[in-house]
Amino acid sequence: MELEAAVRTRRSEHRLLDPAPSDEEFTDLLGWAATAPDHGHLRPWRWILVRGESRAALGASFASGATDAETVRRETRKPLRAPLLATLVFVPRRSHRVPHWEQLAASGAMVNSLMLLLHDRGFGSIWRTGSSVDSVGTRTLLGLAPHEGLIGWLYVGTPDPTRRSVPRSPVPVADRVSRLAPPPCPASAGPGDGRAVTTSTR
Ligand SMILES: Cc1cc2nc3c(=O)[nH]c(=O)nc-3n(C[C@H](O)[C@H](O)[C@H](O)COP(=O)(O)O)c2cc1C
Repeated sequence: MELEAAVRTRRSEHRLLDPAPSDEEFTDLLGWAATAPDHGHLRPWRWILVRGESRAALGASFASGATDAETVRRETRKPLRAPLLATLVFVPRRSHRVPHWEQLAASGAMVNSLMLLLHDRGFGSIWRTGSSVDSVGTRTLLGLAPHEGLIGWLYVGTPDPTRRSVPRSPVPVADRVSRLAPPPCPASAGPGDGRAVTTSTR
């Protein structure tokens, strides 16, 4: 699949079936996804793969704070929505010259590449977060260190073949793009207010 076609046709897949990529295939694709822009090449993240029966333990941790039966039932079942839940752990390098927000941005870039690579191989995925990212029970189950952040799960599997695929149009973004006007030449320059002038690109 060409890159543009992959970008055009990728969707967050809500219904994911077997098969999911093997640990080896996931790791191979991740190796390429990790080439996404990353200031300092810190790769400030790690993944914990959750499959099969382990999903039930994860679901129990999701439900651990719930007080009513309906929420317990719903939370417990959440990890069963895909055959593979790839847990994304943010591992920021503290006191590094590359600030925290850049490390988080690099992690997002990696995930986007990984989702496109999975799509290219015929797999579907969706990045899910929710209140469980702050759950002490979930953090404990996954063995997170205090400085590590849980930034969600990539639910991965095979897209439901019966899902209706509605072609997408590009997002209208013209009003979000402007151009910095060149500075006025010194002879004609008025006092101005010191602010840069931007103009639409349209
Ligand atoms: C950081 C992040 C967290 C997300 N968390 C959730 C979530 O908790 N539940 C959910 O249904 N989708 C979640 N999504 C997926 C978005 O909802 C999805 O990308 C959006 O609906 C657009 O769909 P698309 O990817 O098909 O364009 C998350 C996406 C990102 C980037």
